[in-house]
Amino acid sequence: SQTNIFSDEKTNTYSYKASIIKGSQDSLQQIEGSYLGPIIRVKKGDKIRVRYENQIPAESIVHWHGLHISHENDGHPEHVIGRGETYYYEFEVMNKAGTYWFHPHPHGQTGEQVYNGLAGLFIVSDKDEENLNLPQGKYDIPVVIQDRTFDDNHQLSYSGNSRMGQMTGFLGDRIMINGKIDNTLSLSANGKYRLRFLNGSNSRAYKLSWNNGSSITVFGVDGGLLPTPKTLPYLILGPAQRVDVWLDLSEHEENSNFKMVHLPLPMDNAMGGGMMNGGMMGNSNSSALPYNSQFDILNIKVGPVKENEAALPGELVSANYLQSSEAINKKNPRNFTFAMGGMMEWTINGRTYNGTEVAEEETVKLNTTEVWRINNGNQFSSNDDDDGGGMHGNGGMMSGESGMGNMMQMPHPVHIHQLQFNILNRNAEKVDNKLWEATKDGFINEGWQDSIYLLPGMQIDLIMRFEHFKGLFLYHCHNLEHEDMGMMRNFKIV
Ligand code: C2O
Ligand code: CU
Ligand code: CU
Repeated sequence: SQTNIFSDEKTNTYSYKASIIKGSQDSLQQIEGSYLGPIIRVKKGDKIRVRYENQIPAESIVHWHGLHISHENDGHPEHVIGRGETYYYEFEVMNKAGTYWFHPHPHGQTGEQVYNGLAGLFIVSDKDEENLNLPQGKYDIPVVIQDRTFDDNHQLSYSGNSRMGQMTGFLGDRIMINGKIDNTLSLSANGKYRLRFLNGSNSRAYKLSWNNGSSITVFGVDGGLLPTPKTLPYLILGPAQRVDVWLDLSEHEENSNFKMVHLPLPMDNAMGGGMMNGGMMGNSNSSALPYNSQFDILNIKVGPVKENEAALPGELVSANYLQSSEAINKKNPRNFTFAMGGMMEWTINGRTYNGTEVAEEETVKLNTTEVWRINNGNQFSSNDDDDGGGMHGNGGMMSGESGMGNMMQMPHPVHIHQLQFNILNRNAEKVDNKLWEATKDGFINEGWQDSIYLLPGMQIDLIMRFEHFKGLFLYHCHNLEHEDMGMMRNFKIV
């Protein structure tokens, strides 16, 4: 099939517009009244051709988040095009059924462009999924969560370039659902729903919970369905992460209401504590929704009874996870530490993004399986002794680089391009107790994922396989302001 996408500029927002050149019109769906791009629906095995035309007054390129594709199709910043230029993508959809997405990837401007509206869903289906009798059509609903701030003229206003924005990442003061202010979903009593959540926020994570005492049933993550559904009291959803949530409205009466809310997250220490809130960084968005309070995400309005034939099977897909015994470095994982470098610099193993530069430790071999250990914080780097300043803000001035680094420990939502990995281990020994207690039951370690949420002090072991494509791919923090400041590097498959 063939699709035409262009990024368009209107007033101060951007949008992706798309049309089908060849193929089924059903594969393109625009959410009415939304600033988001279209939902593109494809089948595993489809061969796709996309013509991208840049019509915004800045360089851009489209990245297909989560897809297993070649370097040329991955939207690497080295392929950015200017206004009026076009870029052609041609690839076969090799991923499992799941919820993927696309967004811009020019170095230094991803945050602003995504914020202004450039993002869309890319939904893959496959045979395994078709056999499962999951909800379809209007019972299969996207829920893209983003926080935004509006100025006095009701226009989107972006403060991610301010010093505060560069530290914490952009934090908005209201929640948008599917690119709209209206956060109500009108659903039918008795309906069985698949809600495809994407946290499309620039930097904010959510602690999601139903406000009626129900637990959350998750049956899919970034890269596809879970082997078995998982029930959680609440769910931590970091930037770029996707989950499939099962919602059965059988027990719900017509005209009833309930909500999904964000529950308070004690993130203040992690965010530099009093120093940040004291406004020392200047220009802070003081109206931003505070992490540590409850706010509404989504309203569910239950309408008249309608039945749909769908059920959630106890067994969905076979796990077939990568085994650490297959890894060539299982005793000696590759370490990548995400931390603050010098003053106002976000680094990975002490480096920032430098075009197509690849370090020795960032080079891997095709057709191998590896364990990567992802660390959040300087306390993990061997050449930097903990100076006793602790990892939590103490409200004082920093005395040296490592003091600053340890004080300014932020969560880092880490994303790896081109592949889906399995999580082997999540180590929270060095995570603030209060924060861990408030989050520990909300993480999902199962399934195929491409984005993880690392709390300060957290260490996660991933297992991944490099297949089919050689070349340069990115791994980076998906706090888009951190990414834009250089918390992004290449890895090279040779
Ligand atoms: Cu969704 Cu490199 O990003
Ligand atoms: Cu990506
Ligand atoms: Cu980060």
